Amino acid sequence: MTKRFGPVVANDRVDFDLRAGEVHALLGENGAGKSTLMSVLYGLYSPTAGEIHVDGKPVRINSPSDAIALGIGMVHQHFMFIPVMTIAENIVLGSEPVRSGLPLGILDRGTARRRVRELSDRYGLAIDPDARIEDVSVGMQQRVEILRALYRNARILVLDEPTAVLTAQEITELMTVIRRLKEDGTAIIFISHKLGEVLEVADRVTVLRRGRSMGTVPCAGATEQSLARMVVGRDVIFRLDKQAATPGEPILEVSDLHVMDDRGLEAVRGATLSVRAGEIVALAGVDGNGQTELVEAITGIRHPAAGRITVDGTDITGRGVRAADSAGIAHIAQDRRRVGLVLPFTLAENLGLRGYRKPPLSRFGWLNPKAFTALAGRLLSAFDVRGGDADAPAAALSGGNQQKLCIAREIDSDPRLLVAHQPTRGLDVGAIEFVHGRLIEQRDAGKGVLLVSLESEEVRSLADRILVIYEGRIVAEFPPDATEEQLGIAMTGGALTAGTVTAA
Ligand SMILES: Nc1ncnc2c1ncn2[C@@H]1O[C@H](COP(=O)(O)OP(=O)(O)OP(=O)(O)O)[C@@H](O)[C@H]1O
Ligand SMILES: [Mg+2]
Repeated sequence: MTKRFGPVVANDRVDFDLRAGEVHALLGENGAGKSTLMSVLYGLYSPTAGEIHVDGKPVRINSPSDAIALGIGMVHQHFMFIPVMTIAENIVLGSEPVRSGLPLGILDRGTARRRVRELSDRYGLAIDPDARIEDVSVGMQQRVEILRALYRNARILVLDEPTAVLTAQEITELMTVIRRLKEDGTAIIFISHKLGEVLEVADRVTVLRRGRSMGTVPCAGATEQSLARMVVGRDVIFRLDKQAATPGEPILEVSDLHVMDDRGLEAVRGATLSVRAGEIVALAGVDGNGQTELVEAITGIRHPAAGRITVDGTDITGRGVRAADSAGIAHIAQDRRRVGLVLPFTLAENLGLRGYRKPPLSRFGWLNPKAFTALAGRLLSAFDVRGGDADAPAAALSGGNQQKLCIAREIDSDPRLLVAHQPTRGLDVGAIEFVHGRLIEQRDAGKGVLLVSLESEEVRSLADRILVIYEGRIVAEFPPDATEEQLGIAMTGGALTAGTVTAA
């Protein structure tokens, strides 16, 4: 299979085969061509050359409905739902059972809900067909995507980075679902950058590098190191090398902050914390304990209900994004597509989003296109953003390269405080190593870094201090050598005093 986008060869004569009842992992760097290969299989793109056989017969897949008719289902890297509709409605969308005798097109809600429930029970998905998509967790939304494919009788299921947005608990649940599907003979393609997960669940692994297949190997006998080497073509250091921090004066001070969530419930309930110059403070916690609302309040996106936020002594509480920006706060947003980027804008425009009001990007209110191009030229190469030049739209980049684009812009703004919310989500092993290095560089240059991450390994390897957030409050502080168990107890609200260690 070969797929070109203009000059970009996203897939270059790739061979790939998938067996019934197998979990076949697809690995590769950001932009290696994984999502493209799957999109061709699902009929979203037509191949430039090559052929696809299903059950030994050559097939033509010109649209997702062709793919569905062949029993191919796909869970996308970025979900595709209608948020205000219920789960059942979203699942049946495009394949609605219509009640006989009624005017054409009237949805038979009863039948749809019954089938959704049956499938949910069979695979242990625990889905409530009547809940609205916008009200359920990301993990649930993903199970809905899986169920939508099963509803259409998928025998081949493509999961494009299903775990990137899940919590540890949700990942465990997903693994159980995958095993159950596999026992029923479903063939599964599993894309992930997390090598441990791949070794845990996959039978075979195919590695793509810059559009080409590096070959297929069985998982038995492979290690994280050997897979990482196949992915990036060199050895990857999994251990971070960093000197002890030498923190200075406080930069960010948050005191007794209260913030409401979208539903008007109090998500942050009196949080107090500080980040000093030259240190990385990590906020650890189970997803949904107020991290998002806290970050949004600090970065000026959300108006807090009470409390105070200062940067270098300047009060920015509730003053909005521009005040946070002027105070020197940079923000690597957890949702690159909704918050971090303007997808239809070019790479150069996206990179200029923070600095466009000042020279050299603008003068006397006029934008300077040459300065944008120069900025893009410098940052795209410094941060190894692959897959497009300065004039390409951000939408055309692979997920991980979109992430690198956000990181490049924020770090380049030379902030006082860098708020990094899930900064390595969707990045390949090599890119994670690179970004971790940049975060430590910021720290060593005397900036403050607030890292919010659900990955406990990332938290423990980067942080100089770990703060645990639970139900909207900072409940414990740990040094970076805290054990997984100590963190786990504090994160679930247990034994607060026993786990509390106060750093210098
Ligand atoms: N619609 C498109 N238009 C132009 N180029 C595209 C388009 N879709 C993908 N590409 C390019 O094809 C290449 C492969 O992208 P793809 O999304 O398949 O990568 P990936 O392996 O899934 O990466 P990631 O791990 O970051 O998700 C990239 O260089 C990307 O920029
Ligand atoms: Mg992808």
